[in-house]
Amino acid sequence: MSFEISTEKPLLAALGGQVVRPAPIWLMRQAGRYLPEYRALRTQARGFLDFCFTPELAIEATLQPIKRFDLDAAILFSDILTVPWALGQRVEFLEGEGPRLAPLRNARDLDILSEQAVTERLSPVYQTVRGVAGALARRISLIGFAGAPWTVAAYMVEGSGSRDFAVAKGWAMAEPDGFGRLVDILVRATVEHLAAQIEAGAEAVQLFDSWAGVLAEAEFRRWVILPTRAVVQGLRQRHGAVPIIGFPRGAGGMLRAYAEETGVTAIGLDTQVPLGWAMAELSPGLPVQGNLDPIALVAGGSALETGVAAILEKTADRPLIFNLGHGVLQTTPPEHVAALVSLVRSR
Ligand code: CP3
Repeated sequence: MSFEISTEKPLLAALGGQVVRPAPIWLMRQAGRYLPEYRALRTQARGFLDFCFTPELAIEATLQPIKRFDLDAAILFSDILTVPWALGQRVEFLEGEGPRLAPLRNARDLDILSEQAVTERLSPVYQTVRGVAGALARRISLIGFAGAPWTVAAYMVEGSGSRDFAVAKGWAMAEPDGFGRLVDILVRATVEHLAAQIEAGAEAVQLFDSWAGVLAEAEFRRWVILPTRAVVQGLRQRHGAVPIIGFPRGAGGMLRAYAEETGVTAIGLDTQVPLGWAMAELSPGLPVQGNLDPIALVAGGSALETGVAAILEKTADRPLIFNLGHGVLQTTPPEHVAALVSLVRSR
């Protein structure tokens, strides 16, 4: 554990409730295929999971955006689907098609999962965290992450990406006890995985609930808010005040309930969230992160300038971590990322 004075690290200061300006900035999916040096590094491993589980390569992928841009945080290079793999599910990433998992469709399918060896199987990830922690300048923070239980369960049941995750929703509705067992397994595995990242040197963690937005109110409460609160409580028991950023993409009108009931330290706002509304809805000191449209970063120029200015204006009196409203797109010109960082730094 480190006991750095947090004001040395703008990201941790903002997460601690300070209104830091210029606002600290990092970007979801700041490492990845939009960077030529990432594409070159990626050829050194066969599968995407092999890449994630080779510390030498994952450390370099984590550091690539830090070397190129003046960012306030590095995010561990890994994936949310390493947890299903560590639980014993077959997970593959097909070139250009995304993840494929051997789908779990009923309570009996859960018998293939084993919670015993999760952190042991994910030990290369913690080795990566230690390697990155030792390589970062003092003012740059290291963020660990995991998928939130609902989003990870949705991939485990569906077996791939999906527009609406209808199969996963269908199981959750038809047999909440069985689906709930899967979610309980994920709550425990997620706490273990995040605790191990924190012990290895992660200074904050983010829970990606990328598919929170496909659920109606009652299901959102049951499968997004309750499991997220359980993860937050589990982590707080182990690591007290560690900052936890919740990113419930698409939460819409459920945002306030999510913020108040989960106990997260900060809330990641997706692109669609109207900022004026969110500022009125969320309790005044709550740190927010977001929410520039990733397409504005692809477009650059005046779309980028107006987008940035609007976010900084509307969040002026609140702790802000500047970010996108979702991940960096593959078509993003790297020069536009440099331009975005200068824009945010100049305000
Ligand atoms: O943010 C970062 O730079 C850290 C690394 C990171 C990756 N995935 C690397 C990655 C993080 C934080 C993630 C999270 C993740 N993974 C999410 C949540 C965020 C979101 O985008 O909604 C989800 C849903 C996944 C699952 C996943 N991984 C999908 C659907 C895909 C395929 C789609 C795609 O963009 O290619 C991946 C693969 C993946 N994860 C890549 C990267 C850089 C691309 C694979 C490659 O380089 O070959």
